[in-house]
Amino acid sequence: MYSFTSGFFCWVLYFWQSILVAASKGGTVKAASGFSATEDAQTLRKAMKGLGTDEDAIISVLAYRSTAQRQEIRTAYKTTIGRDLIDDLKSELSGNFERVIVGMMTPTVLYDVQELRRAMKGAGTDEGCLIEILASRTPEEIRRINQTYQLQYGKSLEDDIRSDTSFMFQRVLVSLSAGGRDEGNYLDDALMRQDAQDLYEAGEKKWGTDEVKFLTVLCSRNRNHLLHVFDEYKRISQKDIEQSIKSETSGSFEDALLAIVKCMRNKSAYFAERLYKSMKGLGTDDDTLIRVMVSRAEIDMMDIRENFKRLYGKSLYSFIKGDTSGDYRKVLLILCGGDD
Ligand SMILES: *[C@@H]1O[C@H](CO)[C@@H](O)[C@H](O)[C@H]1NC(C)=O
Ligand SMILES: *[C@@H]1O[C@H](CO)[C@@H](O)[C@H](O)[C@H]1NC(C)=O
Repeated sequence: MYSFTSGFFCWVLYFWQSILVAASKGGTVKAASGFSATEDAQTLRKAMKGLGTDEDAIISVLAYRSTAQRQEIRTAYKTTIGRDLIDDLKSELSGNFERVIVGMMTPTVLYDVQELRRAMKGAGTDEGCLIEILASRTPEEIRRINQTYQLQYGKSLEDDIRSDTSFMFQRVLVSLSAGGRDEGNYLDDALMRQDAQDLYEAGEKKWGTDEVKFLTVLCSRNRNHLLHVFDEYKRISQKDIEQSIKSETSGSFEDALLAIVKCMRNKSAYFAERLYKSMKGLGTDDDTLIRVMVSRAEIDMMDIRENFKRLYGKSLYSFIKGDTSGDYRKVLLILCGGDD
């Protein structure tokens, strides 16, 4: 009886997991089959040696390899040629094309760390970048980002956040950077109702806003719990939580809370919006465009494309095509992986 029951549950679990996996269409960039790091290293060296650069050869290798394969190529390049691939790419390429290629050559966690650093370095702060990375990465990823940041720059991510931001925005980023969100799936019905009621009392029902309450609930609870809180909140207040956040908070703090809610509801829709905003209207926010394309290509670019089309009526491909040019455009379109 016991083994029948556990066998049955394994079977149910197996199918449930297949459904969860099938729900995401995944990335556009996949590991190349028949891959040889040494051959790729030779092709790249040939593309950069002597006068001039063969950009197409560089694209045809690097844009069609996974992040892990690109690391193998970098190692093979060093071993067989005795030079550093990233240094060579930096000296041969320039502008946004260089940035996207070097981004693709950077290991995932280190890339996030470098982007966070760039967002805080010097005068001014790229708040959007801080919010995007800290609100969308998993607690496990956040903890690795935190460690790598310390190793890379000899100071803590938290200290840098503190010296670059202030007030409630600082507090929400410090909270997210602790990577303390519950990673489970457990739903405590009483706590869920309490959270929804607390949020209602902290905002809509009261004159002024208890912003800390929003921070506590949105930064610590697990996703399943929060999705139920959002439904319950709507039932009590007759408003979406997003509407209340917009009317009760402002500035970068508001942006951070909205990003958390959006990532909980539908992460690939959140990234579709980030991409759309980076390209709509005059001018392009290349920092955001490059970061999202590079960091999501292998994870959920197919889902991002689908959401982009659904939300904005045009394909991501057509937006990129209209907003960029040259070799930069060529690489981004390959990372996008096709038109919809
Ligand atoms: C982040 O890294 C610092 C420095 O290594 C460490 O002291 C701190 O405990 C880390 N925080 C988290 C949440 O992992
Ligand atoms: C996100 O939106 C897409 C529609 O493009 C939908 O198919 C998908 O189920 C949504 N995901 C979640 C988790 O709600």
